[in-house]
Amino acid sequence: MSRIFSGIQPSGELHIGNYLGAVRNWVALQAHYESFFCVVDYHAIIAAYAPEDLRRRTREMAISLLAAGIDPAHCTLFVQSRVPEHTELQWIFNTITPLGELERQVAFKEKSARQEQVMAGLLNYPVLQAADILLYHADRVPVGEDQVQHLELSRVIARNWNSRFAPEGDPYFPEPKPELTPTRRIVGLDGNAKMSKSLGNTIALLETPDEIWAKLRPAVTDPARVKKTDPGNPDNCPVIFGLHKAFSPAATIAEVETNCRAAGWGCVDCKKSLLEHMNAELTPIRTRAQALTEQPSLVDAALDAGAEKARAVAQQTLRHVKARMGLD
Ligand code: TYM
Repeated sequence: MSRIFSGIQPSGELHIGNYLGAVRNWVALQAHYESFFCVVDYHAIIAAYAPEDLRRRTREMAISLLAAGIDPAHCTLFVQSRVPEHTELQWIFNTITPLGELERQVAFKEKSARQEQVMAGLLNYPVLQAADILLYHADRVPVGEDQVQHLELSRVIARNWNSRFAPEGDPYFPEPKPELTPTRRIVGLDGNAKMSKSLGNTIALLETPDEIWAKLRPAVTDPARVKKTDPGNPDNCPVIFGLHKAFSPAATIAEVETNCRAAGWGCVDCKKSLLEHMNAELTPIRTRAQALTEQPSLVDAALDAGAEKARAVAQQTLRHVKARMGLD
């Protein structure tokens, strides 16, 4: 049976790009596959940070995931640094990962170009990601589009290791594949790039309706619609129409199409309708997050149990790996 692994960095709040690209799919898949979901704090320390902030954000991320519907009764939710086998397998994988593969990762090229001094961790980041996934023999990885190249590299790493240390025709590691959804790339509110914590163009999952409205109201729309009476084209409005497609029922999406083209609705009307559908999905999540924040022992118990379950699987993989590599 297929296994699922996915991770999220606690480098900021969970935003609706993370939610629509990945987390909503985790919630849908957890009942059907053996699933491991991880708050990847080791990945998050690559950028400069304050230890107190990281501690708080890791916890808030776990709360947001639980509130969004990740259910420890159906899956294993844990924090990466509680399972040291992740970094142990990463070292092993470093020894079979060609440098050229790391240097051509678009995420590395973009991030390193913005930095004066580039740390080795930034380059080796996708090796840790491969270790995360392969420790659990996961073959399906529900992610957004920006992670597809990293997953290609995970397959290269699995193949390289198998070809050296597993008998031909009997691969030890599976080759993990991305599980994408129609909402694989959510555009940021500025309309210029993907929604991203580092670009400051996000709506956080736990923002209140007023906070969301304050961001939606000025968000870019179809530039052709200068006046309310100008007809538009929803395809030229990736922010608002993209979010309608993610949050609104089919009948509303059809209504948006018609009313945008015929200038029946102004952009503010369209945004108000979007807000209503976002609230319907996000308000229960916000309420659950509030309740969980007030029950820290419940969150602790879930994360403790998750780390223990994950560690048992990870230790077994590492025992096999080390035995095959003469490290036992
Ligand atoms: P991270 O923390 O940047 O993002 C978490 C998940 O959210 C998705 N995502 C998006 N999807 C659609 N539209 C967007 N604008 C958007 N922004 C983010 C991401 O694709 C991701 O699925 N390297 C990973 C974390 C990681 C991981 C792993 C993922 C570490 N180990 C192993 C899968 C498997 C990252 O930085 O995701």
